[in-house]
Amino acid sequence: MTEQGKSNKIQTPSTVSKFQQEIYSHYQEHGRNLPWRKTHDPYCIVVSEIMLQQTQVQRVMEKYGKFTRQFPDFSSLARAPLKKVLSEWQGLGYNRRAIALKQIARKVVDEFDGNLPSSVETLTSFPGIGKATAGAVAAFAFYQPVVFIETNIRRVYIHTFFHGWENIKDTEILPMVRNTLDTSNPREWYYALMDYGVMIKEKYENPNRRSAHYNKQSPFEGSNRQIRGMILKLLIRESSVSENEIVQKIHPDEGRIRTVLTQLVSEGFINKRGGKVSLA
Ligand code: ADE
Repeated sequence: MTEQGKSNKIQTPSTVSKFQQEIYSHYQEHGRNLPWRKTHDPYCIVVSEIMLQQTQVQRVMEKYGKFTRQFPDFSSLARAPLKKVLSEWQGLGYNRRAIALKQIARKVVDEFDGNLPSSVETLTSFPGIGKATAGAVAAFAFYQPVVFIETNIRRVYIHTFFHGWENIKDTEILPMVRNTLDTSNPREWYYALMDYGVMIKEKYENPNRRSAHYNKQSPFEGSNRQIRGMILKLLIRESSVSENEIVQKIHPDEGRIRTVLTQLVSEGFINKRGGKVSLA
């Protein structure tokens, strides 16, 4: 698309106000009533945001309640055996996040007297918390007027302000997020934006294809990610298993099993001792 074909993305006070009205009026009619939006407890909000990083809202809804009842605060999660945490995590996928969440809890208890810090900078120093999660936590748990982008928010801005553009960088979107932010209620504003982003996904071809940061999730079936999940599930059930048993029960490709096992050891999921494998 030529420069001429691109729409003007300069925002004026009137376009900002129109945009905010559009987002809020959609939210009033179609805003989602999600359990983690009813709480102000930073612990519950961190749990939900880590779960939502790579898992659909519907699936998180099925797991969030039980997880937060089993581990109601940072200190109970920090103390819980990894096996129990992984067992509650089953069904959410990307188990690395369960370890990160436990490490977050440990760090909050050990270094912050049990209280989650509120600054984005400190939050991003925690395992498993990147810029998007830190921004979401700062806005939802601490009402901070922070500027951040995640997948739904990105979709809203690309759809609304970047007609005809390709290869749009987040650095081009962020000033617009800043410019349109409702600083009087960042928590509500970001909920509303996310819900608008969901609506766009349902109605239009995904605008995030035009993001410079777009990457499609590769198929799960037959992936190493699937094998990782199967190994962890087996170890939750059977405590200690030999490598040969894993090959027999899970995947005939021995080389691949060994690669995955080496990864899992280096990430702190499992231990290997005397040919036997168990959860760390
Ligand atoms: N509500 C709060 N955080 C959310 C998220 N990351 N995705 C969808 N809805 C949310």
